[in-house]
Amino acid sequence: MCGIIGCAGRDGDTLDVLVEGLSKLEYRGYDSAGVALSGADLDVCKCAGKIADLRSAVENRDLAGSVGIGHTRWSTHGPPTDENAHPHLDCTGDVAVVHNGIIENYQSLRDELATAGHRFKSDTDTEVVPHLIEDALADGADPESAVREAVGRLDGSYAVAVVVAGVDTVFAARNDSPLVLGLGEDAYYLASDVPAFRDHTDRVVYIDDGEFARIDGDGWTVSDESGAVVEKPVDTVEWDPEETGKSGYDHFMLKEIHEQPRALRQCLQGRVDELGGQVDIGDLGTLNPVAVQFVACGTSYHAALYGAEMFREVGIPAQAFLASEYATSPPPIGDAFVVGVTQSGETADTLSALREAGRRGARTLAVTNVVGSTAARECDHVLYIRAGPEIGVAASKTFASQQAALNLLSLATTNVTDGREIIAALRDLPGDIQEILDDSRAREIAKRYRDADAYFFIGRGYNYPVALEGALKMKEITYEHAEGFAAGELKHGPLALVTENTPVFAVVTGDDERATKTVGNVKEVEARDAPVVAVTDGESDVERYADHVLEIPAQHPRTTAVTANVQLQLVAYHTAALLGRSIDKPRHLAKSVTVE
Ligand code: G6P
Repeated sequence: MCGIIGCAGRDGDTLDVLVEGLSKLEYRGYDSAGVALSGADLDVCKCAGKIADLRSAVENRDLAGSVGIGHTRWSTHGPPTDENAHPHLDCTGDVAVVHNGIIENYQSLRDELATAGHRFKSDTDTEVVPHLIEDALADGADPESAVREAVGRLDGSYAVAVVVAGVDTVFAARNDSPLVLGLGEDAYYLASDVPAFRDHTDRVVYIDDGEFARIDGDGWTVSDESGAVVEKPVDTVEWDPEETGKSGYDHFMLKEIHEQPRALRQCLQGRVDELGGQVDIGDLGTLNPVAVQFVACGTSYHAALYGAEMFREVGIPAQAFLASEYATSPPPIGDAFVVGVTQSGETADTLSALREAGRRGARTLAVTNVVGSTAARECDHVLYIRAGPEIGVAASKTFASQQAALNLLSLATTNVTDGREIIAALRDLPGDIQEILDDSRAREIAKRYRDADAYFFIGRGYNYPVALEGALKMKEITYEHAEGFAAGELKHGPLALVTENTPVFAVVTGDDERATKTVGNVKEVEARDAPVVAVTDGESDVERYADHVLEIPAQHPRTTAVTANVQLQLVAYHTAALLGRSIDKPRHLAKSVTVE
């Protein structure tokens, strides 16, 4: 998704700060980038491609200014070209704008502006904004009022940042797209996400919908739509800038897979008392839900499926919904408690679903990683998963932390009979995962099957979402065809796809009825000559029918669904590495999808 950075008050290195900031936002996914610096004049440089292309482009230019804005674009309106890259300018070349989101009424605004003589150079929705500002300035408005006037005409979602030639201020506004200020000693920043300026400051101010912000060399202000100053709390970001580096790993994703033991310790710290068999997640423990609806997208949806299973297991009606469907076709909510699972807390579909639930009177909870994110601020309650920053587009450690946090939620709000056993298994998780990381055969499997025609994943119960997640990881980073199925569904269609060149990864844990039935499904696969890779704790006899085994420690079924997933993450990672794919920034994908 698009990323925005802006800064004011730097001593001669505005350009470097902007380009470096953009490189920290690369993880969001993008296809072009650009910067605008304002001094006496306005200088713009932008191009399709990567930040490396932008770096080469700025090298040949003499760009200077005391304030500036930068942008990474993820195409929505028009292909990734130099012209469509942000910043966009007005006719005079004195106003530059970067934007994240979608302006829904851009076509009518564009028609109106074109009729009035404005000339457009791009296919984007964004380009109407500098022209609206140009008109307001021509009518005598001061720059801030001109920005307010222009933004007042926009429908849709936006975070915009604006610079004007000869004005040493960056103006910004937000509606439904993230925007955060960074407060340095003598310099000020704004961005879509904290990593963009985390090297310079840990003090942040989160901008809310409908608010305007301005930064210059002397300070910052936030105001509401009427122009009245809003007193905003200043938060401190707890994580270290070092956490957003690769620490010697080839990829962020591999680093983040290896960070899972630590992420889980952070998630559980101070929240579980093994001796007393108690979980403490504050007021959330008193919620007493009679029914639960989960809404989420992508990997978080798989965590939501896993969470729903936990509530159903103790007799509480619970269901996981794809947020994009829920937002437009909501089910009856009744007395259900609605839980949005979202790593970023900014996924537009999930926010829409949560808002829809809120409008219908439901109490809402955000299970998120990002402190101060929109979901965290808008929901009635929040449960942080405390995974630390995740940079790789494909979610890894945040999935494990979501699984752990949802365990805490179910333990604290329901009467689970084997609570002590689950808490003990959660406590063992970091060590169990470390064992897998130290001794996995995933690379060997990846090498053996790197040229497969397709990859299938099956599982039952808690292992069904693991099968879906295993397949999603595989397709996201290898670009190969991969599908996950409920093990029992295989024979109802997908079995027709199975050949000797389609390995089937079967997640089989424990020795209960679910395991026995899944072993039966494995036999069906084996009889059709497909290679079987069993991810198992050795409790069932699946190894007899499998060609390969990826071992995990025997534990409670809730936590083997976490460790089994780690094996599948490693298989996907190594397959992608062997195929030479762009692992941290897979083609066409974005980390935080802020459009519906
Ligand atoms: C994007 C990412 C996925 C992620 C999904 C939901 O599609 O590429 O990795 O699972 O968004 O993100 P969220 O931040 O809501 O968990």
